[in-house]
Parts: sequence; C-alpha cells; structure tokens
Amino acid sequence: MSTGYVAVQWSRHKRLYDASVAIGIAIYLGAFVGVSKAFWAGEHGISDEVILIRALGSCAIVLLHIILCIGPLARLDPRFIPILYNRRHLGVITFLVALAHATVAVGYYHGFGVLNPFRSLLTSNTNFSSLRAFPFEILGLLALLIMFLMAATSHDFWLKNLSASTWKRLHMLVYFAYGLLIGHVALGALQADRGSIGPALMFSGLCIVSGLHIAAGLKEYRKDRGAGTLVVDAGEWVDVGAPDEIPTDRARTVCAPKGERIAVFRSAGSISAVTNICAHQGGPIGEGKVIDGCITCPWHGWQYRPQDGCSPPPFKEKIATYQVRIVGGRVQVNARPLPPGTPTTPALASGGLS
Ligand code: HEM
Ligand code: FES
Repeated sequence: MSTGYVAVQWSRHKRLYDASVAIGIAIYLGAFVGVSKAFWAGEHGISDEVILIRALGSCAIVLLHIILCIGPLARLDPRFIPILYNRRHLGVITFLVALAHATVAVGYYHGFGVLNPFRSLLTSNTNFSSLRAFPFEILGLLALLIMFLMAATSHDFWLKNLSASTWKRLHMLVYFAYGLLIGHVALGALQADRGSIGPALMFSGLCIVSGLHIAAGLKEYRKDRGAGTLVVDAGEWVDVGAPDEIPTDRARTVCAPKGERIAVFRSAGSISAVTNICAHQGGPIGEGKVIDGCITCPWHGWQYRPQDGCSPPPFKEKIATYQVRIVGGRVQVNARPLPPGTPTTPALASGGLS
C-alpha cells in the first residue's frame, strides 16, 4: 500500500516463510542427488553435473506447481490463506532455482565448444520441425524470461506503477510459461533416452493443477448462483438476505446481474457494500473481516473503510462502493458500482423501509 518505492519490509512471518522454503529446497536437492547417485551407480552412472541439472530443474518445477496450486487451494479452504501471503517470495525463489538449473545446463552442454555458450544455446539446434529433435532448451529459455519478468516486477512498487490490471495480466503469463515448460520437459525426454519419469510426473502435476482450478471455479460458480440471484426494482437492486444472515464483522458476497461480485459487510450495526475485488492483487475481499473498523482483505491485509472504500491514511488506495438499503426487512444492494472511494450512507441493520 505505497505510492513510492519502499524496500521489502521484512517481518518475522516473512523470514520464517523464506527460511522454511530454503530448508525445503536444500532437503529436496540433497535427497535428489543422493538417490540419483545410488540409483545410477556403476556402469550406468551419470555425471554429477547432469544430476545437478535435473535436481535443480525438477526442484524449480515442483515449486512452480506449488505456486499454481496455492491460489485455488486458498479459495477452496481458507486454512491455506497463510501460505498465500508470501506467494511472491516463492515466485522469486523459484526463478532463482530455475536460473541455477539453466546456468549449469548451458555451462555443461554449451560451455566447452568454440562458440559463446549463449550463442551456442540459440544456434546449435534449429530442428524446429522435428518432434524428436526439437530444440527443447529454447522453450525453457522463453519460460525463464517470463519468470524473470515476473520476479523483477513482483514488488508492490511495480504493482502500483503498472496498474493492478496490467500487473495482473503480466503475471497471468505464468500459465503460458507453464505450458512452455511442459513442452521443455516432454520434448527433452524424447531426446537422449532421458526416460519417462519426468514427463509422467509433469502430467500428474498438470492434472492436479487443472483439477484444483476447476474445483475452485465450480465452487465460486455455485456460490454465485446460490446468493444474490433475486433481482428487484428494474434489475437495479439485488437481494442479499435478512440483516442478521450476514455474520457480524463479516460479509455475504452476492453476484450482480452482469457477473461482478459485491461484498456486503455488517459491522457495528451498519451495513455497507464494496466490490469483492481487492485493489492489491484481486483478493476476495468478501472473505475478509472488519478489523479496527476497516474491511481487511484476507490475502495480504490491505484495509478499506466500509463507508467509502478508501484505505485509512496514510494509504491512498480506493475500491468501488455500492449503495445499500433495507426494504421489508431484507438487505438490498444496488448493482451499479460507484466510482472507487465514493462515500455511501450505510443502512442500519435494525432499520429500513417496510
Ligand atoms: C535457458 C533455459 C533452460 C535450459 C538451457 C535448460 C536446459 C535443460 C536441459 C539440458 C535439460 C535436460 C537435462 C538432462 O537430463 O540431461 C533440462 C531438463 C529439465 N528442465 Fe530445463 N532448461 C532451461 C530452463 C528451465 C526452466 C525455467 C525450468 C523450470 C522452471 C526447467 C525445468 C526442467 C525440468 C523439470 C527438466 C527435467 C529434469 C528431469 O528430467 O529430471 N528448465 N533442462
Ligand atoms: S489481494 Fe493482497 S491485500 Fe488484497
């Protein structure tokens, strides 16, 4: 929540998170190298460099799968939200592990010829029309470039300066990078008898990632159909339910006729509505709660005042607000969003028109 560049603010939670990830990576790499050396011993032995390339590459791909699963897991079960907090740290760490994999691979496979290793990487294999001899490393290189772009713009400074929607679009490229990496691993395995364990694990990972995304999408679709479907007054007002059906300091999320989600909060006897989309990274505001009088996003804790959607000073973020009213003992929200930061009159949970 800052307009200028502020260095990463380390907290105990972030240090603990990063230390756990570093320890996990060290254990993974140690186990991978140990098991590979034991398995590929004797006349079928493979060099330490190749084992290291595979250990780093598979470690990066495991981390990438974890990153892709965290979002849908947090939507399916709020207990996963704490691991979502520092997902960007995980992204930067994944890029560094992938960079180490690529550096060792380029050094080992392209570092001993007369050509500059990077030039050799780009020019030594141009069999783009052959599946069996496809230059699979180029796919890895493209994925690495995308991961670099994402890691380099992961700081809130870029989120603010690129605008939330451009930043989000840029970071959605992770799915394109993932597709490139599926090609990198599958086509790489077709060469030099690398075996089918890599592609088999990649396929299982793809099933898990897509399964979780489909399950999370279905959950939200059902939720949208189950709430706020009753539209009254020329399609402008959406029924939310009785005031006491909204838990204290929490929200009920409804879906407007055009599909946007609205979070309707009840706190201190008042009812107010804001967009369900957080200005930070699009987190589901309606799954957050009111803390110290402010709606608090469940993902990274950005806060907004219920009555005008503005972050408390010194922050300057704003989100769209909606008009609310109580008619016949039912809360109704106007489906038309007001410009971000527009003050509204909260409805009194005990009052209303009959
Ligand atoms: C310039 C970029 C890259 C180059 C030159 C490169 C090169 C290679 C090479 C040569 C192999 C085959 C290793 C062997 O078995 O002999 C390989 C495999 C692999 N790479 Fe990359 N790679 C790059 C980027 C990436 C990235 C960004 C990732 C993941 C984030 C990745 C993940 C993998 C995986 C999972 C394998 C299969 C490992 C296994 O079979 O156990 N690579 N890569
Ligand atoms: S998405 Fe990060 S605080 Fe809301």
